[in-house]
Amino acid sequence: MMQDTSALNQQRHPIADDESVWLFGYGSLIWKADFPYLERRRATIYGWERRFWQGSHDHRGTLESPGRVATLIASPGTPCHGMAYRISGETLKPLDIREKNGYLRETVSLHFSDNSTASGLVYMATQDNPAFLGESPLAAIAEQIDRAHGPSGPNRDYLLNLAQALREMAVEDDHIMALERHLLALR
Ligand code: BEZ
Repeated sequence: MMQDTSALNQQRHPIADDESVWLFGYGSLIWKADFPYLERRRATIYGWERRFWQGSHDHRGTLESPGRVATLIASPGTPCHGMAYRISGETLKPLDIREKNGYLRETVSLHFSDNSTASGLVYMATQDNPAFLGESPLAAIAEQIDRAHGPSGPNRDYLLNLAQALREMAVEDDHIMALERHLLALR
């Protein structure tokens, strides 16, 4: 099921075209920044865990064979490491449209390696959106990812690119690395 959250996102946090805003990426935004940005910095948010629990019918799967992509699940105190981009409001608009399937923008505190902080936005798909799939055994998630393919390409590329990018950043993420092992074992 699809839910177009783009208009809701623009109402919830209106941002003028010439304003700049930090956007925190924990999924494809870590390895695929195909938009203009003013600054890019590693950042950490606290209280969230990355999980492949959101269905993808529009990017990495289809209605008949949905893929799975990352979302954030509340986990008090847990760090989630990712990449933050300072972008203009003008750049944010097309991202809202691209990430429209159930992802809402939330405000979070970003922590940078020099101990500075900033307020930023993050896209999250919560359990009440119709595309949310939730927890499943890792082997089943990996099999679903291995099968799925959508307009943005094979679902497996999303997972493998994310795992590789996290390794290059020396980020330990047990869920992602275990999923990668399951996926690679399938072929
Ligand atoms: C991310 O990489 O942070 C992301 C990208 C699209 C939707 C949700 C999250």
